[in-house]
Amino acid sequence: MIVDELPNSSVRERLVKLPPLAYGPLTLPSRYLLSPLAGYTNLPFRRIVREIGGVGLGTTDLVNARGLLEGKGKTLHLVETCPEDRPFAVQIFGSEPIVMRDAAQLLEGRGVDSIDINMGCPVQRITKGGAGASMMCRVDSTVELVRTVVESVRIPVTVKMRLGWDSTQLTAPKFAREFEQVGVAAVAIHGRTREQGFSGLVDREGIRKVVEAVEKIPVIGNGDIRSIADGERMFAETGCHGISMGRGALANPWIFRQFVEWETTGQYSPPGHFEDRLALLMRQFGYLEQQRGTERAIVSFRKMAHWYLKAMCVKAHLRNLMQSARTRSEFEAAVREIAESGPTRGTRTGVLPDLVIPVPSGPVENW
Ligand SMILES: Cc1cc2nc3c(=O)[nH]c(=O)nc-3n(C[C@H](O)[C@H](O)[C@H](O)COP(=O)(O)O)c2cc1C
Repeated sequence: MIVDELPNSSVRERLVKLPPLAYGPLTLPSRYLLSPLAGYTNLPFRRIVREIGGVGLGTTDLVNARGLLEGKGKTLHLVETCPEDRPFAVQIFGSEPIVMRDAAQLLEGRGVDSIDINMGCPVQRITKGGAGASMMCRVDSTVELVRTVVESVRIPVTVKMRLGWDSTQLTAPKFAREFEQVGVAAVAIHGRTREQGFSGLVDREGIRKVVEAVEKIPVIGNGDIRSIADGERMFAETGCHGISMGRGALANPWIFRQFVEWETTGQYSPPGHFEDRLALLMRQFGYLEQQRGTERAIVSFRKMAHWYLKAMCVKAHLRNLMQSARTRSEFEAAVREIAESGPTRGTRTGVLPDLVIPVPSGPVENW
């Protein structure tokens, strides 16, 4: 696919003329997708971003294919869904073709809309077993694994990968071409290498090379998109067909709706204010409580609450109060105090300062 770099003003015009984003026969409601963030993009979070609107596809955290086949409780929690959580993809990881095939078939049997294969995870626990980003170091066996999965199911199979293992092995364009040949429906590219982890800048030129390497499957650009301007730049400089957001969605769950508004009208409404965010926090917590019971929900909601409360500019001692809650009544008391106190900056119903969510730091070797 030849890509002409577009001035930002023409990006919308190009998008409006493009056919809707589709993974094979599955047409997605928008070209703005939720990128998996292990520990965050669970069912309760997917439900609230879908309720706000604009989400083209929601994907689970990475799911161990073997754990799924063994019916492990934790793994099964990850693939829980509900009728509102559509279209819905499960991301699987593993290095054994037969295990990946069986997991894909199991998921198809459960009514999942699409399967995503993880080829981007840099964490040693995953790569040392030959899965995640390490698959980008082995062309033949990786393409065979992907072919096995594609041929075993009728639903679309996609791959999410990085630009390559390191700057000397930028293998994403080659893989994308090969994957298209074996029937992959789309590829998503996080514009960094495994060696980079999350450091440095996203290489949009590298993503563009992937777009140029394929004939017709859509390419999803990913990495550091936190605003409409960031997304516009990704479309303009790479020629990608869709974009996916992880941390940007955590900081601003309204981002998908903003993109759809921008694409259709050129204008977009501000993200939710303090009051909106507090209501969203409560709703998301309620969904988690339904799924896991109150006690577990309180503990497992802490990491999510951390970002909610940061985004809401809540005073440190009140953030701590919520983080130390152990019962429903302590949790509710913390919410009441937070509601009464309001944000430290701005107003309850005004636009809050943008929150930039940092990434895991330190050398990837240690993860
Ligand atoms: C805490 C965290 C967990 C992640 N978990 C996954 C995962 O399970 N599967 C995956 O493909 N990528 C995962 N990623 C990578 C993101 O999907 C995404 O590619 C990356 O964060 C860059 O996009 P962003 O800047 O929009 O967040 C994770 C990233 C972070 C920070």
